[in-house]
Amino acid sequence: MSPEWSNASSDLLVAIDRDSDEPLRSQLERQVREAIRTGRLRVGERLPPSRELAGALGLSRGLVQDAYAQLLAEGYLVARVGSGTRVAAGACPPPSPPPPPSRPAGRSPLLADFRWGVPDLGAFPLSDWLWAVREAARGMPVAELDYGDPRGSAVLREVVAGYARRIRAAAADPEHTVICSGYAQGLSLALGALARTGVRRVAYEDPGSPASVRAAAAAAGLEAVPVPVDEQGVDVAALAATGARAVVVTPAHQWPTGVVLGPERRLALIAWAAAVDGVVVEDDYDAEFRYDREPVGALQGLAADRVVSISTVSKSLAPALRIGWVLCPPALTQALVSVKHVSDRGSPVLDQLALARLMESGRFDRHLRRMRAAYAARRAALLAALAEHAPDVTVTGLAAGFHAVAHLPETADEQALVTAARARSVGLYGMSTCRTSQATAPPRLVLGFGNVGERAVTAGIAAIGDLLTGRDPARSGGPRPGNRCAAPRPGPR
Ligand SMILES: Cc1ncc(COP(=O)(O)O)c(C=O)c1O
Repeated sequence: MSPEWSNASSDLLVAIDRDSDEPLRSQLERQVREAIRTGRLRVGERLPPSRELAGALGLSRGLVQDAYAQLLAEGYLVARVGSGTRVAAGACPPPSPPPPPSRPAGRSPLLADFRWGVPDLGAFPLSDWLWAVREAARGMPVAELDYGDPRGSAVLREVVAGYARRIRAAAADPEHTVICSGYAQGLSLALGALARTGVRRVAYEDPGSPASVRAAAAAAGLEAVPVPVDEQGVDVAALAATGARAVVVTPAHQWPTGVVLGPERRLALIAWAAAVDGVVVEDDYDAEFRYDREPVGALQGLAADRVVSISTVSKSLAPALRIGWVLCPPALTQALVSVKHVSDRGSPVLDQLALARLMESGRFDRHLRRMRAAYAARRAALLAALAEHAPDVTVTGLAAGFHAVAHLPETADEQALVTAARARSVGLYGMSTCRTSQATAPPRLVLGFGNVGERAVTAGIAAIGDLLTGRDPARSGGPRPGNRCAAPRPGPR
């Protein structure tokens, strides 16, 4: 659809060259024609009234009217009383179709989509958010509309620092808190700041988020190296052998294995950072949702001078808000703030003030309580469905967040299983994409249950239970309880 400017303005980018040999009218006609042919002006778009365009270009109105008349005669324009002069249908190439959305909007059309990383989008507290935006706008001093502190709104920094101290036992100081657009930007800022302070190599957990860490590191001019993760979390001895002076970790709930970084490892990691004069970048991505353990505090609380801690509302509210915050070691704040300043001058202020109101008012906590219960119910449904339909499959990583790791029989073919499940309208995702090597062994699934309802969880697992245990009745002639053979390769369905 072409834009319907409410009041056709005299703004039309036409350059009239008075020193040129080409007559003025011809220049105007040619440039409007070109704008239409190249799609700069689209079908139905209204051209400025001749009087306004003439005034803006310093031409006589009669000359502009003559040029419009010529273009009308050539079929580029149409004129209707009361509707002005517009680009004629068929005068310009149709606009190229928009690219397909890279991710499905809202709930997936699948029977069940166990896509990881997405919270319940339908449960976003929209009326609370609208209330918070209105409240924030109402009380907002005009000065807030100016370029502000690149660290972000002082109000939100105060609120999130208090929240981090209260909920995450972090040693948060608003002076060293920087508001950013989610974890993704927080990571880029941290790595950019580290590069400015002389760090050359950053390590990251493997499995983890190799693609995004490697891309952010490359953009900052850093080399990225993987470090293995075991049942206690990141392997600190292996980390020490990499020669890196920075590491990106997910201590509260390792992504994607779900392992919690053990107390000894935490101390070892801090000791490593001190020994190499390095920094730990903590991704505190889903700490709000813990189920069956004592709360695990942020690593930053143990060593505020060695840990950059990054939080996001992508899991607690919605990814589309693009709001997060970074707790900086004081020695790194300046560098990080200057990267932020270069990047975008600061995050959008109205959203920041709205989030501050939401958190201060208790509505954010209320939403978290509601979601904790909802995710706990889905988690229980997932375990019950797996126990019933795929009893051989072990599940780990369920202490927090809204994803679990399903350990498939060792001989299972992760990719074939994902394909076979898709043919049954169930979205499954293998752990191979979380490994630097992309290895499909050992075969694991990362089952996200954030944006899939309880009933869909049950129905989805029921639909693929035989695939998970390698008991596909269509291929084996009937269920064979306890069979631990490989997941069948997908056949024609
Ligand atoms: C490990 C991890 N950390 C953090 C995030 C959140 O990133 P952002 O805040 O940029 O949306 C994600 C998103 O899926 C993630 O997988």
